[in-house]
Amino acid sequence: MSNETLPGGTFTLAAGLTVTRMGYGAMQLAGPGVFGPPADREAAVAVLREVIALGITHIDTSDYYGPYVTNQIIKEALYPYPESLHIVTKVGARRDAEGGWPHARAPHELRQAVHENLANLGLDAMDVVNLRMGGLSGAEPGSIAEPFSALAEMQQEGLIKHLGLSTVNAEQIAEAQSIAPVVCVQNFYNIAQREDDALVDSLAAQGIAYVPYFPLGGFSPLQSSELESVAKRLEASPMSVALAWLLQRSPNILLIPGTSSVDHLHQNVAGAGLELPADALAELDAIAG
Ligand SMILES: NC(=O)c1ccc[n+]([C@@H]2O[C@H](COP(=O)([O-])OP(=O)(O)OC[C@H]3O[C@@H](n4cnc5c(N)ncnc54)[C@H](OP(=O)(O)O)[C@@H]3O)[C@@H](O)[C@H]2O)c1
Repeated sequence: MSNETLPGGTFTLAAGLTVTRMGYGAMQLAGPGVFGPPADREAAVAVLREVIALGITHIDTSDYYGPYVTNQIIKEALYPYPESLHIVTKVGARRDAEGGWPHARAPHELRQAVHENLANLGLDAMDVVNLRMGGLSGAEPGSIAEPFSALAEMQQEGLIKHLGLSTVNAEQIAEAQSIAPVVCVQNFYNIAQREDDALVDSLAAQGIAYVPYFPLGGFSPLQSSELESVAKRLEASPMSVALAWLLQRSPNILLIPGTSSVDHLHQNVAGAGLELPADALAELDAIAG
């Protein structure tokens, strides 16, 4: 398979930044609780190499996965990187000794995080850095001007090519856009979690990528009787239907399902290509978040 034939084709976020809409989320490559090393490092390396072999050109990561572990495995598996590959990271949190995820959004913490991402990935500049705001499952209102300006400064210095946001609301996106262009927004959204429906459409109108995290439900599998019944009727897995639905939901949606398994990776790529007939789409569209 090549990126011409991957489900969903490609999306251009900015000049020189085109990715396959079928991407990969690397969070699951760290140890349990996204903390520490994985039980089987070779298996993690194998998943990443298969991501590239399949033609996927978008990997989502962060230095706070592990911490540092996921980025170090990405470098071990893929460096020197194929020219077509775009690695997207996020900053704005750190890990404490217990595996918690405290905020780390002071300008000096963001600068340190960008430098650590570059060092661990072996890059001179990041293609995209997302500023992660908000809590575990949603945006928290309030100004993001100070941390976003700090990243915009690093963009001016050439450490970052493009900026994105994560776990933000429409007001925060507008505020960020008054400081520097935003090429992608990464929020919690999936077939059963639809609070961002209007935001997906407004970002599509602006040509900004919307990258749903937890596309398969994240740490708890998706629960929806409509999803189960449509999957059964189509003789597909609920996960395939969930991924295919996202691709068909809007052309600016990019997929970053996470997995630590080559088999699941194959299932997800194949599943995302499922054609959902109109009656199935109508039934699925009725699921409220
Ligand atoms: N911006 C943010 O705040 C934020 C937050 C969370 C995540 N993210 C990003 O979003 C990406 C996706 O999120 P996620 O990985 O947490 O959640 P996800 O993609 O919704 O689900 C991943 C879970 O589904 C399982 N899975 C995947 N494919 C499967 C299959 N075909 N069959 C059965 N189980 C399957 C995985 O287990 P196996 O490993 O066993 O396959 C894993 O437990 C992350 O990798 C990360 O890059 C961002």
